[in-house]
Amino acid sequence: MKTIAVIPGDGIGKEVVPVGMRVIDAAGQKFGFTLKWDILPWSCEFYLAHGRMMPENGIEILKGHDAIYLGAVGDPSVPDAVSLWGLLIPIRRMLQQYANVRPVRLLRGIKSPLANIKPGDIDICVIRENNEGEYSNVGGRMFEGTELDMAMQQAIFTRKGVERIVRYAFRFAQKRKKHLSSATKSNGIIYTMPFWDEVFWSVAKEYPDIRADQYHIDNLTAQFVLHPERFDVVVGSNLFGDILSDLGPALTGSLGIAPSANLNPEGEFPSLFEPVHGSAPDIAGKGIANPVGQIWSGSMMLDHLGYSDAANAIEQAIEDVIGDKGIRTPDLGGSATTEEVGNAVIAAL
Ligand code: NAI
Ligand code: MG
Repeated sequence: MKTIAVIPGDGIGKEVVPVGMRVIDAAGQKFGFTLKWDILPWSCEFYLAHGRMMPENGIEILKGHDAIYLGAVGDPSVPDAVSLWGLLIPIRRMLQQYANVRPVRLLRGIKSPLANIKPGDIDICVIRENNEGEYSNVGGRMFEGTELDMAMQQAIFTRKGVERIVRYAFRFAQKRKKHLSSATKSNGIIYTMPFWDEVFWSVAKEYPDIRADQYHIDNLTAQFVLHPERFDVVVGSNLFGDILSDLGPALTGSLGIAPSANLNPEGEFPSLFEPVHGSAPDIAGKGIANPVGQIWSGSMMLDHLGYSDAANAIEQAIEDVIGDKGIRTPDLGGSATTEEVGNAVIAAL
């Protein structure tokens, strides 16, 4: 039996995670498997009680599980840098979850804010480097509180780090429409980004079956809006991937439906599955959070664990419910609650 570490976290994380678990359990009943859930209360509340976001041996505890299912972390009572760097970032790094996979697909029945776009026109997968790049803790502050006050932050690009994410993206593209676009900015950032390009094109030689191209990130964001149908798989650094993976979901209706996987592709360590959205303090406690991002992340987790029939069935059920049946939370223009959407997905399954 597979054991899953569950971290509901904060805010709406605590509302959508139980719904996601119920959907996965229902899929397990239908397809003949059971998961063992190990619920961990690591969160901002935990921080306020214990002075840390997770226990000292938190990473070791996680290593004993087959996967991690996370809601969202962040609460106005704790600085975001503390909650993020105390939990999610150490998990992604220490467990070498270097591939952040974020599918962006316009579901049936969902209206894109873009004019003249129909389902099928947007089907992109953003692959974000998740361990290094711009999100580094190398740097510092000097002369704080004086007129010489300064801050410096170092971007880190290693050959190993860039090569493995680019190679992962090429292999990923082989399973799709065989087109990979690289996000760069080698005209403005003149050391790290040309290095990124150099590695991208050298790995590209190993994959002659893939159509490869590159775009500067500023133009790429414009092209996402003007011609989303041109893209299949897009690989980017930590920062560029982060930006594209909020832009993408915005084009497909709501941040509330976007799923993601933080993968350790070699399977040395457990991978982590979470919605793209955060803890949404503005709507927390109201029971109206969209659970689809959490449910869809659960389906990515099942696929990763080898239950791909169950994963496909969940995605189908999501489209039945929010597309055909029109049962939607307020962020998608509906009036259903978190629970009602969850129950409808289970019924559709
Ligand atoms: P957010 O994603 O929490 O919210 C942005 C907007 O989208 C809000 O108006 C929110 O109501 C809406 N929204 C998000 N998810 C929704 C859902 N499932 N259903 C309906 N509406 C939804 O991002 P924000 O406001 O930048 O951050 C809030 C907190 O979450 C911060 O503490 C931040 O650090 C944290 N955060 C955590 C993440 C994680 O755990 N992976 C990711 C992003 C933010
Ligand atoms: Mg983000």
